[in-house]
Amino acid sequence: MNFDGRVALVTGAAHGIGAATARRLHDDGATVVLADRDADAAGALAGDLGPRARATACDIHDRESVDAAVGTARAAFGRLDLLVTVAGGSIPTPDPEQLTDETWEQLVDLNLTGTMRCVRAALPSLRESPRPAVVMVSSVNGLAAFGDEPYSAAKAGLSVLAKNYAVRYGPDGIRFNVVAPGTVRTRVWDSQDGALERLTPFYPLGRVGEPEDIAAAVAFLASDDAAWITGVTLPVDGGILAGPLRTMFPER
Ligand SMILES: NC(=O)c1ccc[n+]([C@@H]2O[C@H](COP(=O)([O-])OP(=O)(O)OC[C@H]3O[C@@H](n4cnc5c(N)ncnc54)[C@H](O)[C@@H]3O)[C@@H](O)[C@H]2O)c1
Repeated sequence: MNFDGRVALVTGAAHGIGAATARRLHDDGATVVLADRDADAAGALAGDLGPRARATACDIHDRESVDAAVGTARAAFGRLDLLVTVAGGSIPTPDPEQLTDETWEQLVDLNLTGTMRCVRAALPSLRESPRPAVVMVSSVNGLAAFGDEPYSAAKAGLSVLAKNYAVRYGPDGIRFNVVAPGTVRTRVWDSQDGALERLTPFYPLGRVGEPEDIAAAVAFLASDDAAWITGVTLPVDGGILAGPLRTMFPER
């Protein structure tokens, strides 16, 4: 991919999928703004990347903080061409009958409303870009039943949000797409001993994902090679959503 001369803002860029995405876009020529609640880690990665990178503290729960992150990108580099919303995540949630409104709202705010805040803040800048694109990171949880209902419902919301934005802002040339990862080896699995090994056999391609697998798909959807793709959700999932053949008929 060639992102020379283009400025990308990546949320959740301090760790995991966001960090791999920021690094990938940077390696492909973009100037990157790493927006993350963990400002120290984002700063360390930006320092590692060099002058075409800048970190900014950003909490996607907070409108002012998100607006300020976009303002930092504009002030530092004068433009914004690409927005990649990766910040999100889940926490262990109780059974639906025990679920509190507070937990529901917290997860919807982090995984759906926070992305809306980022798009809302970025739109005026994206409109000025010649080839703007937005890529949102969802999850296979937003496409099929894997439990974690509040997280899953919020991630599912991203797909229809992207479709609506794609139609509404298509005439402005702004593309909106979603990447839905399966299980990816990041720190979120560190506390669950043996989980990745247990999940591996469910993946037809024989492994869980690496952050770079997701970064590659984001880079494609953000690039000019995807110039006529908008409003889609792309599973990047080692085949786990392809079907239950092996679970239902292990003998076949
Ligand atoms: N790891 C997986 O298996 C997996 C699978 C599907 C989808 N995802 C999604 O991918 C995204 C990244 O997950 P990851 O595994 O890389 O997690 P991670 O914890 O490694 O990275 C998440 C990043 O987001 C930042 N962040 C969290 N809350 C924030 C907030 N309120 N404001 C700003 N930044 C915030 C964190 O500081 C961190 O840098 C999430 O949206 C997650 O739901 C992950």
